[in-house]
Amino acid sequence: MRRIGVLTSGGDAPGMNACIRAVVKAAKVNNIETIGIYEGYKGLMEGNMKVLTTNYVDDIVELSGTVLKSARSKLFKTEEGLKLAKEQADKNGIEGLIVIGGDGSFRGACDVEKYGLPVIGIPGTIDNDIAGTEFSIGADTAVNIVTDTISKIHDTARSLIVDTPRVFLVEVMGRGCGYIAATSAIAGGADYCIVPEMPYDVNEMCAHLQRKFENGKVYSVVIVAEGAISVYELKKEVDSILNIDARASVLGHLQRGGAPTAFDRFIASQMGVKAVELLLEGKTNRMVGIVAGKAVDCDINQGINDKNKISEEVVKLNNILIS
Ligand code: F6P
Repeated sequence: MRRIGVLTSGGDAPGMNACIRAVVKAAKVNNIETIGIYEGYKGLMEGNMKVLTTNYVDDIVELSGTVLKSARSKLFKTEEGLKLAKEQADKNGIEGLIVIGGDGSFRGACDVEKYGLPVIGIPGTIDNDIAGTEFSIGADTAVNIVTDTISKIHDTARSLIVDTPRVFLVEVMGRGCGYIAATSAIAGGADYCIVPEMPYDVNEMCAHLQRKFENGKVYSVVIVAEGAISVYELKKEVDSILNIDARASVLGHLQRGGAPTAFDRFIASQMGVKAVELLLEGKTNRMVGIVAGKAVDCDINQGINDKNKISEEVVKLNNILIS
């Protein structure tokens, strides 16, 4: 193998650049050149790519987002698009492809693989919803950002005392997975957390907050995962049950920016190196995951078809800590 390609696809995630860097360096020590494909599969079909030097990637480890950019393409989902992608890969001497992204990106990788291009997926999404890995690139940074934001809400909430207790409702990302919500609720000292994986009852939640107020608490912070209920819907219900005017915030895309944490940079590096090793071993249609601290070879179909859910331990922890 003389040349491999790397691309980022789907929602960007902090730490993707550290992963690109690791791919380029691991390839280099094996005398393989890495070509960076810009704008995901769109760039692959259009031949939008250039060789990445180790000098260039040395300066990107702390950058958020993805220097290769990401894109969505309808054409790539067609036979014509897949043929174009393989033609461009051949034309540019790409003998193996590393795809950093989420389940949709892995599906695309498996589709192009059918045309004879070996592929390895690396999980990159803040949602941490990809099965087969304990962590995906970007999730730790998102949790840190949310935790920091919850602390900021505590700062103002504990300072301004008004006649009635105040409730701060904070909506966080994660699609159908409550990882960001549950982890940051624990780390940020929230009073309640709603996740898509667990049934919830707003009346019960309000009774819980009311008990806290009766015990002297003057405010409460509730974290709600976007996949469970919209914060504005929740606010309507909370306002009517508690007869208050709750404060609602949607943290939105700030959760996907910011310098990647050391942990994200580290696991991104582990997975980048492992992906190159798998290609060199002749593997294809595989995904790299982090299991018990190690980068391991996983079934990409598990990453595509199954979803990570928050663990029972995290649910239990949350129940203890909100009490
Ligand atoms: O999958 C990552 C993610 O940030 C989700 O948490 C969120 O629901 C979605 O992407 C937002 O997508 P967009 O950037 O298209 O609004």
